[in-house]
Amino acid sequence: MYKGILLGHPLMAQCHKFITRHKPLNHKQWLQRIAQVPEIDQQIDFYNSGPTITLLENKIAELLGKERALFVHKGMVGQNAALLQWSANLNRHRIAIHPQSHIAVDESDAYDKLLNLEVWMFGEPHCAITDNDIARLPEDLAAIVLELPTRRAGFRLPQWQTLEYLQQFAKTRGIPIHIDGARLLEAACYWQKPYADVAGIGNSVYVSLYKTLGAAAGGVVAGETEFIEQLIPWRSRMGGDLFTAFPYVLSALWGLRHYLPRIPEFHQRAYALAQAIQHRFGDEALPFPVQCNGFLVQLPVSAQVLERRALKLAEEKGIWLFDRILPQGEQSCRFEIQAGDALDDWQDADLVDLLEQLSR
Ligand SMILES: Cc1ncc(COP(=O)(O)O)c(C=O)c1O
Repeated sequence: MYKGILLGHPLMAQCHKFITRHKPLNHKQWLQRIAQVPEIDQQIDFYNSGPTITLLENKIAELLGKERALFVHKGMVGQNAALLQWSANLNRHRIAIHPQSHIAVDESDAYDKLLNLEVWMFGEPHCAITDNDIARLPEDLAAIVLELPTRRAGFRLPQWQTLEYLQQFAKTRGIPIHIDGARLLEAACYWQKPYADVAGIGNSVYVSLYKTLGAAAGGVVAGETEFIEQLIPWRSRMGGDLFTAFPYVLSALWGLRHYLPRIPEFHQRAYALAQAIQHRFGDEALPFPVQCNGFLVQLPVSAQVLERRALKLAEEKGIWLFDRILPQGEQSCRFEIQAGDALDDWQDADLVDLLEQLSR
């Protein structure tokens, strides 16, 4: 079956121009970036303890307006730890998730096989959650998980009033809200709210360090001190105590200085590019409204044909366009664009011209 995953293809390493996310770095470039960080001469971390990890945790806690933040080398580890702890604290074993959330579709059923938790699916495919979805939630939940934005649903975000309703609903029933905010910083631009206001909707919140913040990997879970410190043994049990995590930590500190201030700009760029695509290809090219820096594009060409042309372009011109192509019937396909510094190398009109050539 056609899988469409192109990320990591050998031709990608030969390319010099990209469109989605940040420009990928090679080993030498990563090491050079890490070497620039002012904390380079500080003591190295061991088993999640050291001054640079503490600094990173404190910076993110402050950004999110939370008492405490905890570094994890993988978001999955942090989120699984949080869900298990909410479940243990309340002695409840069911969580609510969106049917297209990362937890539902990208984690090999870890919630069931590893955590032994049941799920209540809330929200319709390709839609953000609504007040109706919330009103139908059961009351015996260990946690309500809110993925902001819900990437596989087309980077969808609920209206702010819906988030306030959810917060009220959960509070009156004593249900904690966990935000899967892998891209929370990017989402905040949509409501034009401070990061802490968005994070404040949740009792616990996970933020990825390697999406727009551009670290090599890793994430942070934040919340009240007592709760977050309960996650430390879970992080260890789930294999989260790396001997040292310095490449993740130092590259995240670099990202906080260089990428965090650019997030509103990436958001604007996504809107401008999406508009240019819509103008050239029509409304069908944008199956969902753009709400954050990530969006889906649909072109009138089959996935196989587009992939063949994209690989030829990579080979001949060193231009890498797609991480993954999603078939959409026989005659069209979709791909993601997540605006980051890769777009610094493009004028929107040139990129749209190229997409037009590829889809003809
Ligand atoms: C929405 C969302 N949640 C969770 C994760 C898990 O992060 P990690 O790959 O660090 O485990 C991802 C990763 O892509 C994600 O997109």
